[in-house]
Amino acid sequence: MSNEWVDYLRAAWQAANAAGEIIRANWQQPKNIDYKGAIDLVTSVDRECERKIVRIIQENFPGHSILAEEETNVEAPQSPYRWIIDPLDGTTNFAHGYPQLCVSIALEQNSEIIVGLVYDPLRRECFRAVRGQGATLNGQPIQTSPVKELDKALLATGFPYDHREHADFYLSYFKAFMTRCQGIRRNGAAALDLCYVACGRLDGFWELKLKPWDIAAGALIVGEAGGKLSNFSGAPLLLSGNESLAANAQLHEEMVRVASAVTRSHVD
Ligand code: IPD
Ligand code: CA
Ligand code: CA
Repeated sequence: MSNEWVDYLRAAWQAANAAGEIIRANWQQPKNIDYKGAIDLVTSVDRECERKIVRIIQENFPGHSILAEEETNVEAPQSPYRWIIDPLDGTTNFAHGYPQLCVSIALEQNSEIIVGLVYDPLRRECFRAVRGQGATLNGQPIQTSPVKELDKALLATGFPYDHREHADFYLSYFKAFMTRCQGIRRNGAAALDLCYVACGRLDGFWELKLKPWDIAAGALIVGEAGGKLSNFSGAPLLLSGNESLAANAQLHEEMVRVASAVTRSHVD
């Protein structure tokens, strides 16, 4: 990659900042909520942010593919580039006024993420990474934590929108980590959870059934901050995979051991 990433990052920031302004303007207002499933919400602000982000990306890069959560799937087969966008990660939090949410924008080239940007508009924290160039928080380089063992670790997780139907299954992983670590947080915005692993506020994270737009940007940010990503068996993380696990490089193996043992217990 030559210096094109400067233009990619600039457009990603322009788009995330514009979405952030929409989120802040609506934060104290009554929310206009639709249901995608029994507990899977979408607000008019999610859609407004997505339209704004997509418009900015298309103005800058009219030939690129775009996949965004709510209503955009533009396929440009002649282009190696695809933007992957979560216009508002943490929608349930947003709807309830719980201040943990972000905008997540990633750019993939030939199926490899090359740029990731996650913006928390309430704290005005912007996490960025460019492949091979490290990760930053508001321009300052960030690194994963030095914590070496689960016994001393603060973890985070989340639950997919079918958690009412599969509570015992999801809780089996929760119990395995809960009985070994210092604490577990469930903050409700997976992209920010990943960024918190990247900057050392958290030591590790796991979740099932995340979507490409939840993890694309955050995964690059964790990797560029020195962390490791995989599925629960330690195989490379796939955007379309079912299992996501991220941790600092020292802790990753122990987390995989715990998660894969739980998975095996369900097969045996
Ligand atoms: C959700 C959040 C949440 C995670 C869910 C995601 P959304 O995304 O990232 O933390 O637990 O699995 O679907 O719906 O708020 O964009
Ligand atoms: Ca999301
Ligand atoms: Ca979302």
